[in-house]
Amino acid sequence: MTSKGAKKANILDKIKAKARAKKRTVVLPEGTEIRSILAAKKITAEKIAKVILLGNADEIAKIAKANKVKLDNIRIVDPQTSEMLADFAHEFYEIRKEKGISEQDALETMKQYLFFGAMMVRKDMADGSVAGAINTTGNVLRAGIQVIGLAPGIKTVSGAFMMTVPKFRDKINKIFMYADSAVVPNPDPEQLASIAVSTSRTMKYLTGETPYVALLSFSTKGSAKHEDVDKVLATLEILKKNYPDLKVDGELQVDAAIVPEVAKSKAKGSPVAGKANVLIFPDLDAGNIAYKLTQRLANATATGPIIQGLAKPCNDLSRGCSADDIVDVTAIAMLMKG
Ligand SMILES: CC(C)(COP(=O)(O)OP(=O)(O)OC[C@H]1O[C@@H](n2cnc3c(N)ncnc32)[C@H](O)[C@@H]1OP(=O)(O)O)[C@@H](O)C(=O)NCCC(=O)NCCS
Repeated sequence: MTSKGAKKANILDKIKAKARAKKRTVVLPEGTEIRSILAAKKITAEKIAKVILLGNADEIAKIAKANKVKLDNIRIVDPQTSEMLADFAHEFYEIRKEKGISEQDALETMKQYLFFGAMMVRKDMADGSVAGAINTTGNVLRAGIQVIGLAPGIKTVSGAFMMTVPKFRDKINKIFMYADSAVVPNPDPEQLASIAVSTSRTMKYLTGETPYVALLSFSTKGSAKHEDVDKVLATLEILKKNYPDLKVDGELQVDAAIVPEVAKSKAKGSPVAGKANVLIFPDLDAGNIAYKLTQRLANATATGPIIQGLAKPCNDLSRGCSADDIVDVTAIAMLMKG
């Protein structure tokens, strides 16, 4: 409950506290970027994670000094000169040789900071990588996909948004997880099933809440017939077969998914309808439009895109991010492997 002037429960504070308890390590590949340096200082000071900054040590020290930042207890690794480079290049060559890359290509790729950081995660030298302040989402994803790879059984990387709605019915700061809102334009049933599984994990890992997964549609339980509805039903079949413990249902309209009174009349007996907290959209148009509408019309806070589906965390930033955003995404990344 909140009263006038009372401090809102902040989900990110809770996520940071959980990250602290995990005592994990983040690698920040964009180490010569001032926002990464400021974030590294804060992440270390707040004990959210140990930090590895990638970059030339002299250059990082110079930028830190110019900004009066002390880099105590922060490890700096230079991919260009690291003694790990040859080993990393060899491992990357082994992963990608069937794609036709040479050992020289592998070496050159591993000198790239996003790839080097992803390899540190692959080899458990770090628990997650956070980048994207100066790199595109595509480049961050490509390094994650090629070096870390997908989680077992997962067919696609996707992007979830954690939506904190200030007031939903009698709940203050109600959290919904939306996906895919960032990566896959037109997922097939296998991909949609993967998006549902990844998003349910993201919900569980970040909030501790039991995920109730709604496969959304313009139809509820056969109210309309259309090939788009068939896609959602095929997704439900895959999930029931492969993830029998997942609390999932579809096809559901969004009101049937989240409003108990509507669920009662439209989807009686559904294990999810009326209490869904994980909303899976049939395509990227719907997922992207929905998160922005919720943000603008319900004054919700949108946190994301939270990159999910990789075997180990590799998270993306927006290029307009602040140092504090990097701190927040790091806390999220530290929880993304459970
Ligand atoms: C993921 C992404 C980087 C792939 O781009 P790409 O390299 O041009 O795509 P390609 O089709 O050439 O695929 C390259 C590799 O990635 C894999 N891949 C592509 N999309 C994938 C996905 N969503 N999940 C998992 N793997 C994927 C391909 O299978 C391929 O693998 P391979 O090299 O082992 O054969 C691209 O789809 C992208 O940039 N997505 C982000 C979109 C975005 O910016 N959204 C806005 C965020 S708010």
